[in-house]
Amino acid sequence: MSPTTDVYSLAEPVRLWEDGFASDPHGYYDTLRAQGPIGWGELAPGVSAYVVTDRRAALDLLQDPEIWSHDPRPWEATIAGDPPILGMMRWRPNTLFADGEAHLRYRRTLVDAFSLVEPHDLRERVHRAVEILVARFGPHGHADLVSDFCRPLMALIFNNLFGLPDSESGRLDDALALLMEGGERAALGEAEYGRYVVELIATKTARRGPDLTSWLLDHPLKLTPDEVTWQVFLTLGAGHEPTANLVSNALSRILGNQSYYSTLTRGARPVMEAVVEVLRYETPLANYAIYYARRTIGFHGVWVRAAIPVVISFGALAYFAEKEYEGGHHPRDASHMSWGASAHVCPVKQHTLLIATEAIERLTQWLPDLDPVTPREQLTWRPGPFHRSLTALPVRFTPRTP
Ligand code: HEM
Repeated sequence: MSPTTDVYSLAEPVRLWEDGFASDPHGYYDTLRAQGPIGWGELAPGVSAYVVTDRRAALDLLQDPEIWSHDPRPWEATIAGDPPILGMMRWRPNTLFADGEAHLRYRRTLVDAFSLVEPHDLRERVHRAVEILVARFGPHGHADLVSDFCRPLMALIFNNLFGLPDSESGRLDDALALLMEGGERAALGEAEYGRYVVELIATKTARRGPDLTSWLLDHPLKLTPDEVTWQVFLTLGAGHEPTANLVSNALSRILGNQSYYSTLTRGARPVMEAVVEVLRYETPLANYAIYYARRTIGFHGVWVRAAIPVVISFGALAYFAEKEYEGGHHPRDASHMSWGASAHVCPVKQHTLLIATEAIERLTQWLPDLDPVTPREQLTWRPGPFHRSLTALPVRFTPRTP
């Protein structure tokens, strides 16, 4: 075998868009890994990508911005038509798709705006949202924790943090769900989400409030209204979907392990442990760190061509970490990479951890006897290459009204 392989011409692409990937991602990750540290996959029919499944290769890539760019425009120039997946991948003037100085400028505004959200204030916003939802489904004695709790919860929290009344949160949730799945209806989701964000900016431009949108509009780095619109477009989506999935994945682990759950409500095993377990072994943002080589290079034994997406598969890294740990090789305290490890590392992980743990603690305080209807191994997962996201998490409990 030559020291540097062209997986582009050799390997059959692994179809991460298939329904089978949602039900058995591990099998797909094994197939990719069998191709080497960098495999060859498809994010949508006809949309190919390199997929990095090896930790060393991932770190080398994430820490070398001279070679690797986050700007998708050279790739976009090669795309024919308007495949639905472009909704998640096309360039916009925001921190995620920027490199160098532009990246620092955009990122600074977001970090500063979020730093104005005090932990006690965020905790109260989370509790308020949990109470609104428990008041809705608590009296029924049964619920789907995905559609009745995790998703509407994040919509309520982020809609509120960005400054709109609760009545707008359902719209946000519906639009983002379509967009993230990347399927046929992704364009509808993108259009509706765009309308939501444009209306939000107009509302806050007319009248500021104690919210993230107003702080971004007034930031000393003076983003244009258009630039603020794109930061908000990114950040609402980046926050809502993965955090909803972080909470539902953690709840499914907690409820699927009765000994864990019985101790949880007595406080013996902290909720944080379940959340970190998800980040370590079942990360919700599985394949959405996408980079592009600035020029064709040999990398970890593979020719990586310029202007083709290179996905760092945090999902695969987490799976292989769990496998090695089960094999007795992986120290349990080794750091996970679910927040990323480049200059684009998630800027709000502390906020996210607070939201996730408070949401679960508050829910289980109100409903301490949540009982899963479906065994964890029979739960089903939403299609889509980017996320690890349950379709439903049905539970029963003693009816309760806050
Ligand atoms: C409050 C909720 C969240 C918000 C507002 C948020 C926001 C963001 C933003 C704006 C970025 C881009 C940063 C940049 O390009 O400089 C980012 C990156 C990232 N976020 Fe988050 N995020 C949230 C939750 C999460 C969750 C739950 C996960 C998954 C565990 C996650 C994983 C990541 C990763 C992996 C990246 C880096 C991707 C890369 O290297 O390209 N985030 N996040």
